[in-house]
Amino acid sequence: MLVKIKLRLMKKSTGFKKTKTAIFISGKGTNLKNLIKFSKNINSPISIELIISSTKKAKGLKYSNQYKILKKIFNFKNKVDEKKLLNLLYKKKIKFICLAGFMKILSKNFIKKFRGKIINIHPSLLPKYKGLNTHQKAIENNDKFSGCTVHYINSMLDSGKIILQRKVKINKNDNEFTLEKKVLKVEHLLYPAAINKIFS
Ligand code: GRF
Repeated sequence: MLVKIKLRLMKKSTGFKKTKTAIFISGKGTNLKNLIKFSKNINSPISIELIISSTKKAKGLKYSNQYKILKKIFNFKNKVDEKKLLNLLYKKKIKFICLAGFMKILSKNFIKKFRGKIINIHPSLLPKYKGLNTHQKAIENNDKFSGCTVHYINSMLDSGKIILQRKVKINKNDNEFTLEKKVLKVEHLLYPAAINKIFS
């Protein structure tokens, strides 16, 4: 009995049971960096094994070198590339995918292959403001609150089941840039919290 408990504790402390995860990006990668840091906590349920980018221009690719995580760039319009991507994910035993500033639409086939295993962070209080320019829309509409949402991916844009959501107050002197900054700060708290919720 004692041996079993010790083993369980050992597994936990060595991260033995962490779920192998890939992060998909297209841009700056501040959420990627934040998730990498989160994944390094002993109690984090995920380990980040792979960074996938839709473009070689993504600034976030720099975190691959910094944190010694394999990176690959794929063309998401091309079926051959999708096959290669799926093969790589299977080879690396990836069981969970986090989209973090990923600007491409995943194919129905891809989503089917990872059904219920792909999540995304979106900078609005969904279902309000799906798609792009969310901060601009919130400012133009004189909204009192904006925020961010972590949700599952399904075949429709920004429409999957919501996991967690957090509000951010919009002040009178906010513009789309100050609001973006404020929301991003909250995203960095919300994404790890949503992952903990999924695996708890
Ligand atoms: C974030 O606001 C995220 O919600 C949205 O794109 C932005 C990406 O920022 N999907 P970063 O690349 O993680 O810094």
